[in-house]
Amino acid sequence: MELVTTSSSKPLCAKGPFDRLRANGWVLLTFLASAAACAQDSDVPFIVTPDNVTREMLKLADVKASDFVIDLGSGDGRIVIVAARHFGARGLGVEIVPELVEKSRDNAKQAGVADRVEFREQDLFATDLSQATVITMYLLPEVNLLLKPKLRKLKPGTRIVSHDWDMGTWAPDRTVTVEVPDKPIGREKMSKLHLWIVK
Ligand SMILES: C[S@@+](CC[C@H](N)C(=O)[O-])C[C@H]1O[C@@H](n2cnc3c(N)ncnc32)[C@H](O)[C@@H]1O
Repeated sequence: MELVTTSSSKPLCAKGPFDRLRANGWVLLTFLASAAACAQDSDVPFIVTPDNVTREMLKLADVKASDFVIDLGSGDGRIVIVAARHFGARGLGVEIVPELVEKSRDNAKQAGVADRVEFREQDLFATDLSQATVITMYLLPEVNLLLKPKLRKLKPGTRIVSHDWDMGTWAPDRTVTVEVPDKPIGREKMSKLHLWIVK
């Protein structure tokens, strides 16, 4: 598996799509070690949200053509691209790994939605969220908690959907469980999706 640094001061973080990972023990151990190193630095490895989960996240947020979706840590761009292609929304993906930003732009062109989505190489903590009506995230529990001060400032009515991880003491407005036969990590082949609606 290919590894890249996400910044000069940060440890190596997994870059390659996990769904291409052949789960032999050595490769898996290498991946988990790098993911743990990233997590300690509040960084997040690239692990894709499977397609059926992406659609359920957007349905849970009730995404419509009038929405502007921001995916924090957008990986290969899939959530924003599906939001534009299948829900008619506009959106922004922010991602810290340049190669993934390039890949997202290519994917958006191939999906025919390049005019409605933008992908930016940017630290998600530095992103202006004021345009968002929907925020999606597949990060880590501690990163979700660090984001709370930013998320508190979102416009009332903004929907936040997090794949798998909650927000500590913030009780979700709704949680759904989705079966994910092709989930790339974990023994339980299911995902939890949490929704918060900003008051
Ligand atoms: C678990 S992946 C999720 C990718 C995509 N959102 C999805 O659900 O398929 C998390 C992504 O966040 C990116 N990331 C990690 N730290 C970041 C940061 N500080 N700013 C922007 N992106 C970051 C990683 O490079 C990775 O691509």
